[in-house]
Amino acid sequence: MGKAFDIGLERLARGSVGGGTTRSGEFAERPASEGHRYTDLNESAQTFYLETFGCQMNEHDSEKVAGVLLARGYRQVESADAAKVVLYNTCSIREKAAQKVFSRLGEYRVTQREGQTIGVLGCVAQQEGEKIFSRAPWVSLVCGSASYRKLPELLAQLEAGNRRVTGLDTDTDETFETEVTRRDNPWRAYLTIIEGCDKACSYCVVPFTRGPERSRTSASILEEVRQLADAGYTEVQLLGQTVNSYADPSARKMRFSELLVAVAEVPGIRRVRFTTSHPRDFGKDIVEAIEAVPAICEHVHLPVQSGSTKVLRGMARTYTREEYLEKIAMLRAAKREISLTTDLIVGFPGETEKDFQETLSLLDVAQYDGAFCFKYSPRPNTPSLKMADAIPEEEKSRRLAILLEKQREIQRARNEKLVGRELEVMVEGKSKKEFQWSGHTSSNKVMNFTSRAQESLGDYVQVKVVGATPNSLVGEKSERRVESRQLTVVS
Ligand code: SAH
Ligand code: SF4
Ligand code: F3S
Repeated sequence: MGKAFDIGLERLARGSVGGGTTRSGEFAERPASEGHRYTDLNESAQTFYLETFGCQMNEHDSEKVAGVLLARGYRQVESADAAKVVLYNTCSIREKAAQKVFSRLGEYRVTQREGQTIGVLGCVAQQEGEKIFSRAPWVSLVCGSASYRKLPELLAQLEAGNRRVTGLDTDTDETFETEVTRRDNPWRAYLTIIEGCDKACSYCVVPFTRGPERSRTSASILEEVRQLADAGYTEVQLLGQTVNSYADPSARKMRFSELLVAVAEVPGIRRVRFTTSHPRDFGKDIVEAIEAVPAICEHVHLPVQSGSTKVLRGMARTYTREEYLEKIAMLRAAKREISLTTDLIVGFPGETEKDFQETLSLLDVAQYDGAFCFKYSPRPNTPSLKMADAIPEEEKSRRLAILLEKQREIQRARNEKLVGRELEVMVEGKSKKEFQWSGHTSSNKVMNFTSRAQESLGDYVQVKVVGATPNSLVGEKSERRVESRQLTVVS
């Protein structure tokens, strides 16, 4: 469906609950954005081009980096060719993602102009550090996400004639808060509430690339949400690698579930989403908040990774299959119907056919509305790199195909059950085909719907589900009118 719509399409696809070999949600190995379409006639200003790969947190970091540079008088341009500074925000979650970085850097070498600065940001920058300079000597700035506050200073050093600068400390309690964030979407705003990760899953680079967990104060988060609401945003997505491990560093000591409610109560905010939740810290209080407050979206992304307790132990996920299933039972018993999505890895070292079957049987019980499925990819510095009993690539592919097929059928059946229901949709895209629109439900399902009215993007409408596919719903707008930016009623 991607090409069929005029706007917001990649965004819609990314938010979809569909399964796939790459994650179309937060952590896909795809360009999160390829430059931005902003030009300015002030030719004398310094110019930058920013390309982003990776998860929503990376994408949002780029919005903040752009804000910092714009505040310093830089202007953003749409092609690397036209830019004085080319910044490349990178992802290293799986090997393929990291490989892409070096091939793209190779392209930049060819196109680099005299006096042009090339900078590598993000997770590959943090992981590879100064090694990037030897692999790609045309790069002059390497900076990981924990050091973005230093970016203006690093750029000033380059302007002053320094050849190479780095920002690679992860030993920090700083979060990256900016006065100005250049947001890409006019209705949905991302907001990182906790940076870094302390969980140390044995396969994962994130604790190395993003440093330890640091939470923002609840007051600063709520202030930003109020500003967002004043600017017309109606949907806020709270971000963190383990968003529900949020720990308010201020004396207020607001719990994550309390923060969700407080954000939802900000006048003008109509939808609050949060991702990604770690099962260990997922308590009943979060479910109760969703039950009590309609503006907190009825969707939880709760990565399980494997259905086998033995494999989960090897992954250091800190929960067993049974403990995870208890969380699922709690969610399924909620007073609101909560859509549930997950992440799964196949082919972790030592995963036997029996372990894999346990993952398949977990899908039967959990009945996910979407799953992002990955083949295990060995990553530098991670404990699982040295684990015995690696699974051959073909076997990983075989398991992945079986998993995807099974999940696809579950999604088809779950979506078909929604036919006949009326759901609220935020209008986010217009198709080239007349009267065709698209958006998301509160449960984060993509809805493609027919409406003869001239819809306004960003409005909320009631849509009747008339059909279903594994990855989306088909609907017709119902006549019942819903006010845009209607305030949340808290019961
Ligand atoms: N913090 C989140 C997501 C982290 S990365 C969480 O804990 O759930 C997103 C997903 O990428 C993970 O959930 C995992 O399924 C996948 N992933 C991470 N490292 C991987 C690796 N080395 N190989 C394959 N998939 C991986
Ligand atoms: Fe990686 Fe685990 Fe942290 Fe998620 S919780 S970012 S998978 S270490
Ligand atoms: Fe990738 Fe870093 Fe995000 S490794 S998934 S960009 S945290």
